[in-house]
Amino acid sequence: MGQKKLWGGRFTKTTSRTVETFTESVSFDARLYRVDIRASKAHARMLGAQHILSHEDVEAICGGLDGIESDIENGKFSWSDALEDVHMNIEARLTERIGDAGKRLHTARSRNDQVVTDMRLFVREALDQLAKCLQNLQDVLIARADQHAADIMPGFTHLQVAQPVVLGHYLLAWAAMLQRDERRFEDARVRVNICPLGSAALAGTSFAIDRQMTSDLLGFDRPCDNSLDAVSDRDFVIEPMADLSLVMIHLSRMAEELVLWSTEQYRFVDLGDTFCTGSSIMPQKKNPDVAELIRGKTARVCGHQMAMLMLMKGQPLAYNRDNQEDKEPFFDAYETVVTSLKVMTEMLAQASFHVENMRLAAAQGYSTATDLAEYLVRKGVPFRDAHTVVGQAVRYGVENNKQLYELSLETLQSFSAHIGEDVFGVLSLEGSVNARKHVGGTAPSQVRLAIARARVALQQTLDSKGA
Ligand code: ARG
Repeated sequence: MGQKKLWGGRFTKTTSRTVETFTESVSFDARLYRVDIRASKAHARMLGAQHILSHEDVEAICGGLDGIESDIENGKFSWSDALEDVHMNIEARLTERIGDAGKRLHTARSRNDQVVTDMRLFVREALDQLAKCLQNLQDVLIARADQHAADIMPGFTHLQVAQPVVLGHYLLAWAAMLQRDERRFEDARVRVNICPLGSAALAGTSFAIDRQMTSDLLGFDRPCDNSLDAVSDRDFVIEPMADLSLVMIHLSRMAEELVLWSTEQYRFVDLGDTFCTGSSIMPQKKNPDVAELIRGKTARVCGHQMAMLMLMKGQPLAYNRDNQEDKEPFFDAYETVVTSLKVMTEMLAQASFHVENMRLAAAQGYSTATDLAEYLVRKGVPFRDAHTVVGQAVRYGVENNKQLYELSLETLQSFSAHIGEDVFGVLSLEGSVNARKHVGGTAPSQVRLAIARARVALQQTLDSKGA
């Protein structure tokens, strides 16, 4: 048998238990209690300042809400799904505590503008935490890049050895993806940080409210422009969720390489005993499950983003109960990304890179063939001709099981008379990476400059946030 509702005036029967269970959101939106209380206090203070509520009522409301907040924090609050959601649970408890003043809190407000204000506050905090996690991971990547600024490894295209690069350059490529992610969150925050409070159910309110005041009290940049849009819009959830998906896509790409690199075939990295797990049957196994799970969790974050998009498809203005379904996908996506970022950060901080194996791999696969072609171009050979000549030298090497740098000068000269003694510097791994010394190139000298730039950029974002 259902319980009498706060909105039950026009009803003669109580809600079916099945419906109560189906429609409740308190099982997942209770976590909004802090932002809900914060927004309610701002609303009450504004009503007081506008003489819509008496000073005594405002004090009773704010004191009561503080008491409820500490009860929740100390596990002394009992949530009821018959009261539907976090908003009505708190309001009902407030009225129990302070009487009629509690019943006045909802003046000039609806749950429609209340819930969307709560969500905007919650998403804003989430974005700030995500930015910090992204900074921590960039920090580790930059530090590891510094340790390996001159360690040579193969760079790949089509997963085939292509050209030598340094490990530091590789790690900075990962950091660059995460820096873009961080900027995307910063950018989305601008559109999140707008205050819907005062839009009430959909049309605004007949009370002389001060929307600027509530917006300021809650740290928003300004009030939303249109009450219909304000209560129904969930772009401010969808957009950060698209950014969350992209973070996971980046983490998944990194995870995939770590999985590959830790195989017996590559042996580029040891992810560490504390970050691997064993097999219940094969005693020799040390599996990269952490990296695999990060890759796997990408699916659910991207799935949540699709759920959010579909949630909004075809919704007429203004508020519809569909919107209650914005919470679980966002909460789960956000938690999954925070955890994945933390785990990746710790794993990369302690992983050991096997730089000797990387170097051996870079020395295979004719990785400096392009350097030989470019050498011939500098000697006056047109690039297309140089490409053909080097292709012939590579074919000779493949047939005779020799790398280019293992061929004698005479053999090399049989492919082009332009080749001289100085070719061996060009064919060496160091010669190859050192030659790429322009901005964005893999020469250790450039990588060190890139590390310095990345450090400055990271520090600037920390400073601008006053962290
Ligand atoms: N729990 C609801 C939600 O999350 C709160 C708003 C309910 N509003 C309404 N008109 N039924 O969206």
